[in-house]
Amino acid sequence: MNVKDAIENRRAYRVLTEIKITEEIIDELGKAAQLMPSCFNKQPWRFVFVYEDSQLDRMKNEALSEKNLSWANKASMIIAVFSKKDLDCVIKDREYYLFDTGMAVASIILRATEMGLVAHPIAGYSPKKVREVLNIPSEYNVINLIIVGKKDPVIPDYFDNYQVEREKNRPQRKPLKEFVFHNTFSS
Ligand SMILES: Cc1cc2nc3c(=O)[nH]c(=O)nc-3n(C[C@H](O)[C@H](O)[C@H](O)COP(=O)(O)O)c2cc1C
Repeated sequence: MNVKDAIENRRAYRVLTEIKITEEIIDELGKAAQLMPSCFNKQPWRFVFVYEDSQLDRMKNEALSEKNLSWANKASMIIAVFSKKDLDCVIKDREYYLFDTGMAVASIILRATEMGLVAHPIAGYSPKKVREVLNIPSEYNVINLIIVGKKDPVIPDYFDNYQVEREKNRPQRKPLKEFVFHNTFSS
């Protein structure tokens, strides 16, 4: 799959079926993050790949919001994404750790897509619980969880209308002219 196809095929699908998580999968996703650019090559991103049953159950039942648990209970792996400001450049009011970690996550998601996986980022979780379950010190910012599984084509009865619609169709995007400007900004 080329990059364009990975970008086009990536979706935040919610209907997931189980897959076996192997060391190879984790290495491939780790490598996708490893090669991304970062300010002064500081590589501020940190990831915990959670796939062992008891830890995965704790993440699901203790850390996820109720709405996210309703579909992410089928996740085969949850990747916790975390970092902190002093791991990366701070140039006046510009703090680069979120930007650089976000780029690494984008690369993980596209590589996962290429590998035939769903990698769905979420913000609906308790960072405090994530830190507790994964033993992450409080100075780290838990920026995102990535829910990983394989797409299941059969939408379950308990999905609400919003979830069914999102599963079938990609949510609409802004037209390019709203965020792409040629040569000068115009608001
Ligand atoms: C930072 C971030 C937070 C998100 N949080 C959630 C979430 O808590 N629950 C959820 O179901 N989807 C979540 N999503 C997925 C978005 O809803 C989804 O990417 C968006 O609607 C566009 O759909 P698409 O990714 O299928 O194109 C999140 C995505 C991002 C990047």
